[in-house]
Amino acid sequence: MALWSGRFAGDTHGLVGKFSASLGYDRRLYPYDIQGSIAHARMLGATGIIPPADAAALVKALGEVRAALDRGEFPFDERLEDIHMSIEAALIRKLGEAGARLHTGRSRNDQVATDERLLLRAEADALTGRLVGLQQSLVRQAAAHTRTILPGFTHLQHAQPVVFGHHLLAYVEMLERDKGRLADCRHRLNVCPLGSGALAGSTLPLDRERVAAELEFDGVTRNSMDAVADRDHLVEFLAALALIAMHTSRLAEDCVLWMSPEFGFVEFDDAFCTGSSLMPQKKNPDVAELTRGKAGRVYGSLIGLLTVLKGLPLTYNRDLQEDKEGLFDAIDTVAAVLDVLAPMMDSATVRVERMRAAAADPGLMATDLAEWLVGQGVAFRDAHHQVGRFVGDCVRRGIGLDLATLAQMREHIPLATEECLKLFSPERSVAARDLPGGTAPAQVERQVAFWQKRLA
Ligand code: ARG
Repeated sequence: MALWSGRFAGDTHGLVGKFSASLGYDRRLYPYDIQGSIAHARMLGATGIIPPADAAALVKALGEVRAALDRGEFPFDERLEDIHMSIEAALIRKLGEAGARLHTGRSRNDQVATDERLLLRAEADALTGRLVGLQQSLVRQAAAHTRTILPGFTHLQHAQPVVFGHHLLAYVEMLERDKGRLADCRHRLNVCPLGSGALAGSTLPLDRERVAAELEFDGVTRNSMDAVADRDHLVEFLAALALIAMHTSRLAEDCVLWMSPEFGFVEFDDAFCTGSSLMPQKKNPDVAELTRGKAGRVYGSLIGLLTVLKGLPLTYNRDLQEDKEGLFDAIDTVAAVLDVLAPMMDSATVRVERMRAAAADPGLMATDLAEWLVGQGVAFRDAHHQVGRFVGDCVRRGIGLDLATLAQMREHIPLATEECLKLFSPERSVAARDLPGGTAPAQVERQVAFWQKRLA
């Protein structure tokens, strides 16, 4: 701080510089910091708060600094604690007094708040693109498997037959909600804090609306104290990322199960699996497992930030600097997961016969029999009870439901007819679930077409 403040007699303790520096990670904000500074400088010139020539010099110099940063040739000085001070110092080195005018009517508090909003806007857009990429890959597989039958599970027990495309499109729905959450968050955060100063606004006639418009914000923040203290948008963003990580982790868990020999439903390409350093025969679903595991650090970032914020008095406190590393890590983690899952899902070989064989148990069609009875006017609870007794009887006899005779069936289900004996076909079962949201191939084909159009 001694570099900047006339208030201090000497340098900080040798350990304090390193302890308090954020330059190591907040340099990631530089494109947004420069974008914000250019808008601020133009406004200072246009309002006559600083000489227009100085504003023009600042805008030009900011462009040069940006180019040096882009090229990786910016001379970072570790004694300057953050990216904001680093860039400002470079401007002062270049321009002297004109450089020293940039921070007029601005604090790092409203500056960093602005930078973070600009970054979140860009990251929301980039992550939305990645979510679309994974959705498209899932829809491609779903399109190929609108008639591929496998057991659907509840309690990880075989429940009713479904088609594989229906299972995959369930994840497409989740990812669509994730996109909606990012869009909500982006909408709410899109207001400009600049002009809030350190906490109380400014005595200078700043044109806040002009700065906000140049930075493509929808407006300006209404309360300067809230503007510098608020990190709600980071929490919302991290919560959205946590949900994405939860969804990708569930998909990954399905993939791990499908690839196990007990299921043997899906094989992923060698390019997405690894071997064992000891067991020569192994092929492990490491990408899926890591996807599952990485959810932990994303949740950690969310809880970490909530913990930083909890109990902070208004307004800015240096604790807020701790908002960044977890956020950046969560963004990078989720981006990497979405990037790798899309080609992994494309690489899947679906073992159609294995899936069909697993769905062959006629017990999976017991519900179909109960619903057939409903069609005959039997109350569902009674139908459920009758079919349950029939199932129990078959279990005791050690036969499948499809091997019972009509007479045996009638002992428990008085209204049973020949038609009932034909209900034990998984193909018939899925085709009969022909209502919106159901697993009938006709419905799933319609859903595939919907997604293909929507994601095009
Ligand atoms: N590096 C700081 C942060 O990220 C910038 C704001 C510093 N403000 C201050 N009053 N010390 O929070």
